[in-house]
Amino acid sequence: MSTAVAPVKIAILGCGTVGTQVVRLLTEQRDDLSARVGAPVDIAGIYVRDTSVPRDDVVPVDLLTSDAETLVDAADVVVEVMGGDEPARTLILRALAAGTGVVTANKALLATRGAELYEAADEAGADLYFEAAVAGAIPLVRPVRESLAGDHVTRILGIVNGTTNYVLDEMTTKGLDYADVVAEAQRLGYAEADPTADVGGHDAAAKAAILASLAFHQRVHLDDVYCEGITEVSADDIAAAKETDRVIKLLAIAERAEDGVSVRVHPTLLPSSHPLAGVRGAFNAVFVEAEAAGELMFYGQGAGGAPTASAVLGDVVSVARHVAGGGRGPRESNYARHDVLPMDAAQTRYAVRMSVQDRPGVLSAVAQMFANHGVGIESVRQMAGKGHAGLILSSHRASEAALAATVEDLRASDSVNDVWSVLRIEGE
Ligand code: NAP
Ligand code: HSE
Repeated sequence: MSTAVAPVKIAILGCGTVGTQVVRLLTEQRDDLSARVGAPVDIAGIYVRDTSVPRDDVVPVDLLTSDAETLVDAADVVVEVMGGDEPARTLILRALAAGTGVVTANKALLATRGAELYEAADEAGADLYFEAAVAGAIPLVRPVRESLAGDHVTRILGIVNGTTNYVLDEMTTKGLDYADVVAEAQRLGYAEADPTADVGGHDAAAKAAILASLAFHQRVHLDDVYCEGITEVSADDIAAAKETDRVIKLLAIAERAEDGVSVRVHPTLLPSSHPLAGVRGAFNAVFVEAEAAGELMFYGQGAGGAPTASAVLGDVVSVARHVAGGGRGPRESNYARHDVLPMDAAQTRYAVRMSVQDRPGVLSAVAQMFANHGVGIESVRQMAGKGHAGLILSSHRASEAALAATVEDLRASDSVNDVWSVLRIEGE
């Protein structure tokens, strides 16, 4: 006589861009997933704000509920794809407190409340998985958290926000208008519910905080991450980048320095020949450098319903396997105590684009202002204008503090009409 194996009941919180695709994949691939888990995998229910709103055909209407607590309490695995702080936080904590494993795509919550969530998971011995929170479909959390656990990660540098990469790419290659491209990114399901999280750099900063925490084995909060988005990047900046054979990308950078770790997000100039320069549309790509492994590169779809659902489903299988067969996923690794350095201490190269007086001696006056703060000039490109000259000065490596002091002097100088923009340079 065969004993029936108990099903693993999955609660899905949220049924938007990602949730709908999670439901679709769980339904269409139920037999395969059940075989991989070793027990039937069933959707216990889908929590939404309003059950009467028409849904995609793939969503079984009878599984929709607006009673989140009852659904969470009945589940073996909770998948949180609602986003936002509350009620996501309370529902995740409720599940973890009951020992129920959680899979979440909510990077904003992890980057601000990660400590609380990890502690709740540890207290109850429950799983907390979040592959989909960083870089969509790309397996990145697991490699950094598990595969590289025996190495020393020294640097992570990459494109981790699909919306901004899509926007910059469309503006660069098609000359499209910023507002139109952002609206299209929303329509395609790449953008957050509030797209200012994308264009303001906060979504990438949340991902940088998560990656830095995993890579450096310590808690890095969203507030520790320096963040500049793409809202100030102009069509002129993009054209000037092209003139110097570069492209502008929003990069997340987390690196070990001698005296601590530096974590930042900002628009960055890359040479057109750099591998990240060729990352198009909503794709993401991330370099991870580790002492023994050397340089690794991860590439794939960074946003969108189905790609993100793929990452969610991978985590669901892991947690469901633990439900069916026992065991637990990795706990938080939080033993290191490096200082998180202020942005002033970060060292990089800069391209300063400005308008100067078109008269003899101006170039040497400008060069002197750089020299006064110990910022070396690597190259100068001059474009003639009417009654003024446009300059792009590319510097050698210098600290943010030294560059900021230089720009202050430039702005106060009679020789300089205007400092149009300052962009950081990587990869040269
Ligand atoms: P979305 O399209 O806005 O969907 C959110 C869903 O959650 C909706 O079904 C909504 O219910 C439900 N919801 C939101 N707030 C709720 C509340 N207070 N009470 C009950 N239900 C609530 O968002 P999404 O793009 O799928 O993103 C979901 C999560 O995945 C976010 O954390 C996001 O950062 C993350 N993520 C998204 C992507 C992506 O490419 N979209 C990629 C990676 C990670 P109603 O339908 O009733 O409004
Ligand atoms: N809004 C996010 C992005 C979704 O554009 O990358 C993926 O995390």
